[in-house]
Amino acid sequence: MAFPESFLQELKLRNDITEVVSSYVNLKRSGRNMVGLCPFHGEKTPSFNVYTENGSFYCFGCGAGGDVITFIMKIENLDYVDAVKHLAQRAGLELPEHSYDDSMSRLRTRVYEANREAARYYYSSLYSEKGKAALGYLHSRALTDRTIRSFGLGYADGDWTSLCKHLRSKGFKDSELVAANLAVRRKNGNGIYDRFTDRVMFPIIDLRGNVIAFGGRIMTNEKPKYLNTSDTPVFKKSANLFSLNKAKNSGTRTLLLCEGYMDVIAVCQAGFTNAVATLGTALTTEQAMLIKRYADEVIICYDADEAGQKATARAIPILRNAGLLIRVLTIPSGKDPDEFIRSHGDDGPAAFKAVIEKSGNDIEYRLQKLRGLNNIETTDGKLAYLEQAAKIVAGISSPIERDLYSSKICSELGIDKNAFKQQIARINKKQYRENSKKEARKIQADLSGRNDKINTEHYQKPRSSKAEEELVVYLVNNPDSAEEISSRISPEQFQNSLIRRYYEYFLGRIQNGYDPLTNVSADFSQNEVSKLYQLLSQSVRAASTHSAMMEYINVIKEESQKLTSKEVEEMSPQQLSDYLDKIRKNKQ
Ligand code: CTP
Ligand code: MN
Repeated sequence: MAFPESFLQELKLRNDITEVVSSYVNLKRSGRNMVGLCPFHGEKTPSFNVYTENGSFYCFGCGAGGDVITFIMKIENLDYVDAVKHLAQRAGLELPEHSYDDSMSRLRTRVYEANREAARYYYSSLYSEKGKAALGYLHSRALTDRTIRSFGLGYADGDWTSLCKHLRSKGFKDSELVAANLAVRRKNGNGIYDRFTDRVMFPIIDLRGNVIAFGGRIMTNEKPKYLNTSDTPVFKKSANLFSLNKAKNSGTRTLLLCEGYMDVIAVCQAGFTNAVATLGTALTTEQAMLIKRYADEVIICYDADEAGQKATARAIPILRNAGLLIRVLTIPSGKDPDEFIRSHGDDGPAAFKAVIEKSGNDIEYRLQKLRGLNNIETTDGKLAYLEQAAKIVAGISSPIERDLYSSKICSELGIDKNAFKQQIARINKKQYRENSKKEARKIQADLSGRNDKINTEHYQKPRSSKAEEELVVYLVNNPDSAEEISSRISPEQFQNSLIRRYYEYFLGRIQNGYDPLTNVSADFSQNEVSKLYQLLSQSVRAASTHSAMMEYINVIKEESQKLTSKEVEEMSPQQLSDYLDKIRKNKQ
């Protein structure tokens, strides 16, 4: 069962989309709409539009769109019911009881509760008799009890069922523990056992303070070194960062991006509470956009080993595309931040601070790497270096910065700056031509609908699709025309099955006395909602008159009567002549 219409209307009324979006995106007025930088993809010029009039948003860059509920689903990573709950809480609205299907939402709540209880249990095990070795291990890694407490670290003991037993005694069901990935079903189907055994445990906590997952480290050299919670109803690895809950309160807009749990904890213990880490995977765009909500600058603090350097090279464009300033830390003698701090004993914090202060921006980092790869004492090496350095410098958008690096490189190598600048100009020109070509190709593909992954039939039947889309938009914007439209055209006459579904849906809602759009985020998939709002926002600009509506209807009729060549082949002469008669009549 869905939420009652009246409740959803009230919810939307009390959660003005501009206000809600404004707490995540810096919006500026532009004509009748508000625009800003899209929070769902990295961009430098705003293409994210908020339409106050009909309470919707649409990004012309990435195609995300919807109403205020869709927005919260996407930005807070919540399902439909939880997004509605979130907005109800925000507006101080009481939720109608038992009127909606909240089985998924209830399960999520249970998983949060189980995780919290598990974290408590692990923590108390760490300080019990059986946790002695684990506690010794953490102490040997220079963590203080205060740090252990602050991160809620713990110990999963070596008995394979102790957590299951404990959580059962607290009223949790086996299915809930499996859903939380705290327990795993036995292969033979007979019961469950603990997912984590004999490991020190690192709880992962989200921005609302919920324990959403765990990482567990083995204390020997066995593999895997870390075992992490798989994705669950409350946890998506690629959309979360370890310790962001702490870092967001650190009072700075600079974050230190580390590779692992232990680095974050050591860096934090050294006084830098603005550290976060990805969760055992390469940095994703989603994570970069999340960082952008809390920071303007990121200092990459990856390991100095080869893997760390590769990860740095991969992370730079992702962070840059999210609009973040980047600095890269170079830790001396191949250590990770944790080892580096520890190796300096009491001076660890000061030594780490010095390394941070020495960290250059990503351009300096890339130039320095390049220097390491080429022997600039030889002519060939020098040329190769210059050619690639020019490419890096050409990619800088600020002319002042570009000039600065050009001067630096040229004086270092003792070459003429003008020649270097000409080289950069050539690269930029070429790049510009390539980009223009690429853009033109993309616009062409967009126009033809070839890039459209959701509305795939548009490309196959562009004429009828266009008319069907316009008619649906007209219907949504003019609900009182529903009767007239439905008397002239039936859903079966639509060629495009997605648009036909929209048409049937809106007709049904309007005929039953409902506002067409109130419930779309529950009744369609997120992509279908985005598609719908794309159609709605595109035709905000086009005039939609009654005569235009009649034209759409004519086109749809005409197209629906067209036969495929196979159908024509199979027709008898009599059938064909009847068919032509029918078309002629329709045209009159
Ligand atoms: N990781 C993982 N699974 C592994 C190894 C690593 O998920 N088998 C993830 C963990 O999040 C870990 C991060 O990758 O924190 C970095 O790995 P690594 O550099 O190997 O570990 P450290 O953070 O240095 O951990 P430690 O100091 O405890 O060895
Ligand atoms: Mn380490």
